[in-house]
Amino acid sequence: MDESDASSHTPVLYQEVLAALEPRAGARYIDGTVGAGGHAQGVLEASHPDGELLGLDRDPAAIALARRRLKPFGKRAILRQSSFAEMVDRTAAVRWKRVQGVLLDLGLSSMQLDDARRGFSFQKEGPLDMRFDPSQPVTAADLVNGLPERDLADLLARYGEERQARKIAAAIIAARPLTTTTELADVAASVVKRTRSGIHPATLTFQALRIAVNDELRTLEIGLEQAVSLLAGGGRLAVISFHSLEDRVVKHFLRQESKDCICPPERPMCTCGHKAQLRLLTQRPIQAQEAEVQANPRARSARLRVAERLDVA
Ligand SMILES: C[S@@+](CC[C@H](N)C(=O)[O-])C[C@H]1O[C@@H](n2cnc3c(N)ncnc32)[C@H](O)[C@@H]1O
Repeated sequence: MDESDASSHTPVLYQEVLAALEPRAGARYIDGTVGAGGHAQGVLEASHPDGELLGLDRDPAAIALARRRLKPFGKRAILRQSSFAEMVDRTAAVRWKRVQGVLLDLGLSSMQLDDARRGFSFQKEGPLDMRFDPSQPVTAADLVNGLPERDLADLLARYGEERQARKIAAAIIAARPLTTTTELADVAASVVKRTRSGIHPATLTFQALRIAVNDELRTLEIGLEQAVSLLAGGGRLAVISFHSLEDRVVKHFLRQESKDCICPPERPMCTCGHKAQLRLLTQRPIQAQEAEVQANPRARSARLRVAERLDVA
């Protein structure tokens, strides 16, 4: 990767994220998906002269880019290759206790999508990989070539919400072994004739495999729990999601943690003892303005949800 790689990723909802986190001097922030460091740079600039940021990313290539971009901030920027699901341990390791803000900008960056060798794009020929961290044990090829037909269909239905999951799974089984992204895209296209809103026939198949390879939804649930546990009273959690499955996880989590009781409505008395930890600041997700979508089409599907930590006892 070269210098131009970092600038190829435009941070989405940049102003909205800064407005949500309200970075200030003397405070500490975690960027759980630091990527090329675009949002992180904004947080560090806005918390001048001594705000600090711990940036995490599962992808070592992203950490290398962020390191270069955030170099001018010296020790104020601490970067670690890690999943945000290990945020509590990473924070303890740098001897921080509570932080004033956590950002999760989910999904993948333009650099990852554009790098054919990573196998994320059905438009570029590359190996069926899709791991955020190349040391993870399971690749997309392992799932595509190793899963029984029924499990493969379930995976496509659950993580892609792909209506034609059974047909695609059957076609994959008939075509195995598949080794490249374009082979898989061709198999999906041979089955999926009509698509919702004109998206490419392989879109949902690729989304499903990426989520499964990286165990994204479970990782997100763990990351959200950990983020809340690290926030100081008044601290902010800002999460950007890019598809309905992850947005549903975020919405459900933030709503649940903003309520004192989460008993089923038919129960006459509260027996759960649940206490609200958050105050929801966005009843509806914040979306990009048309001008941003024009300049950066990736922003079209971005949904930002924000909550504030109630005072920690
Ligand atoms: C949309 S990009 C973030 C871009 C970043 N906000 C910026 O301004 O450049 C998402 C990043 O999250 C990383 N990622 C995905 N899942 C992760 C996880 N569980 N833990 C840490 N990083 C993760 C990806 O590797 C990718 O670099």
